[in-house]
Amino acid sequence: MKVHDTPGWGNPWFRRSIIWLVVLTLGAFLVGFVLLPSVHGDFSAQGLWASICRAAGVPGDWSVPGTTPRQAASATDVVLDRNMAKAASQQAIGRGATLALNCTMCHGAQGMSTSDAPNLAGQYPEVIIKQLMDYRSGKRSSPIMVALAKGLPDADIADLAAYYAYLPKARTAPTTYDEALPALVRVGAPLRNIAPCVSCHGGIDQKFGAPWLEGMPKGYLEAQLKAFRSGARGNDSEAQMRNVVRSMTDQEIEEVSLFYARKAGAPTE
Ligand code: HEC
Ligand code: HEC
Repeated sequence: MKVHDTPGWGNPWFRRSIIWLVVLTLGAFLVGFVLLPSVHGDFSAQGLWASICRAAGVPGDWSVPGTTPRQAASATDVVLDRNMAKAASQQAIGRGATLALNCTMCHGAQGMSTSDAPNLAGQYPEVIIKQLMDYRSGKRSSPIMVALAKGLPDADIADLAAYYAYLPKARTAPTTYDEALPALVRVGAPLRNIAPCVSCHGGIDQKFGAPWLEGMPKGYLEAQLKAFRSGARGNDSEAQMRNVVRSMTDQEIEEVSLFYARKAGAPTE
């Protein structure tokens, strides 16, 4: 047998294949741990070790010792309470209607917005109470709503919520579970840890504190989902929404927003 037939460092083919193997391995590492993390927002470069941990499924918050996760600053301090949803008196609703005159400019005369502000008509009272309290404490940011909520005592918030909850959910039909619903809405994406919207927002289950979404302006829904994804909005208890949208693409956000917005035949652009 000739020397160059035996697999060994003396064999040029063997040498070349080893060199290529090394080059390809290094290339794959660069793409997987440097290039992809740098273009994928959720993998914001926190070093090689953090990238490896995340690739292995360790939540991002663990990987940076000594830093508090961003959501801590905006975490809600409102504790949802069944009393927030108790039947309101006519008197409370009447007071709420008067207070709501300050809100019609953006949220519509009957709580149905004609701009990109959210509809409030028929919204669950505990949702309105929680969101107004979060604006008031600055846990949810919006220059206009923070300024308005600053001056609202608890009693006014309760009456406003009673009034809006009393208004009919105009033009909107609830989502009912059905095979034709978009996949993310109906079953989520288990492999990406996306729970189905219908398991919290109605259809299968209505979680206390999860807002009524049907008929909301599409632009508003998209903006909120993107705010949860970037962490700009972090007032959702236990990061329920941030966990849902974390790995959703822009296109998926648009799709579910369109679905919830157009259910009601509301303006979709
Ligand atoms: C100048 C316009 C404007 C006025 C006036 C206004 N709002 Fe808003 N409101 C908005 C916008 C815009 C948002 C969405 C802000 C965001 O991105 O968080 C909002 C959000 C809200 C939300 C959160 C709804 C949800 O589904 O999460 C509530 C509740 C609310 N407003 C109640 C009120 C009440 C009550 C008043 C009157 C006291 C009022 N708003 C007056 C523009 C307005
Ligand atoms: C695990 C329960 C859960 C699941 C699953 C879930 N949500 Fe939510 N969602 C919530 C809760 C709770 C809130 C209210 C957060 C807060 O208190 O600010 C919320 C808020 C929202 C808001 C903001 C609405 C507003 O008016 O402020 C949007 C938009 C939304 N969810 C859309 C979706 C979509 C679309 C899906 C499916 C892809 C989904 N959610 C899945 C629980 C859930």
